[in-house]
Amino acid sequence: MLTGILQVDPTEALREKIDSSRLPRHIAIIMDGNGRWAKKHGKARVFGHRHGVSAVRETTEAAAELGVEYLTLYAFSTENWNRPAFEVNALMTLLVDTLGKEIQTLNKNNIRLKAIGNLSKLPSRTYSALMKGIEQTKNNDRMTLVLALNYSAKWEIVNAAKNLATQVAEEKINPEDIQESHFVNELNTAGIPDPELLVRTSGENRLSNFLLWQLAYAEFYFTDTLWPDFRKANLFQAIIDFQNRERRFGKTSEQITSA
Ligand code: FPP
Repeated sequence: MLTGILQVDPTEALREKIDSSRLPRHIAIIMDGNGRWAKKHGKARVFGHRHGVSAVRETTEAAAELGVEYLTLYAFSTENWNRPAFEVNALMTLLVDTLGKEIQTLNKNNIRLKAIGNLSKLPSRTYSALMKGIEQTKNNDRMTLVLALNYSAKWEIVNAAKNLATQVAEEKINPEDIQESHFVNELNTAGIPDPELLVRTSGENRLSNFLLWQLAYAEFYFTDTLWPDFRKANLFQAIIDFQNRERRFGKTSEQITSA
């Protein structure tokens, strides 16, 4: 007779609750709370960012293992330039170092790297490391990891409007013929499906100029967990929550259930 109690790994137990046939194709994450995590541990803010990299690694791995197709991480907003120069420099160095170290892991896991944002305005060492990573992973097709860097949704939308205005001025398109799809093609995310799930950590409930167009129909999941503490189990919990919601896209509940 069996007397021992079988131990169940809590992360595995959560994974088993996920319906793999109804996964969000694209998950976007606002990684927040690195500074508060550092403060809680009596350390400088940079220490929190460094620990945030473990959360990036683990979340990316978990999303790829599940079969999520796109994962977008808000790594640096245009507004983040307003932080103290020391912190901005440390973040840029961390990005260069992390990209340098993790490209091999991305290739091993068949993950393609992409980036959105005003990339040409990044410091040249960050830009070069990013372009190298994108080039070296371009043939991978298991999942796409999109880093939002020097990103601002308002900038992106204005940029799309400028591009369309140029096409009108060059008589390539009539203003009356402009459709949603023309606009979508001018966004940084052209070719990428809109995120179905947005996660923000650290108890803040805002969008902070992130993917304003693309998140039109996304489900929002807010958690108090600070980003450096975010682990596979947290991602699984967000997906379970997503799968328990009814997505109506403007229709009635009855229309959805009878379809
Ligand atoms: C927000 O926390 C976090 C950031 C502005 C940077 C995120 C960067 C990383 C996790 C590290 C590197 C990323 C990659 C993709 C390699 P905060 O500083 O605003 O925290 P606070 O609100 O508690 O002050």
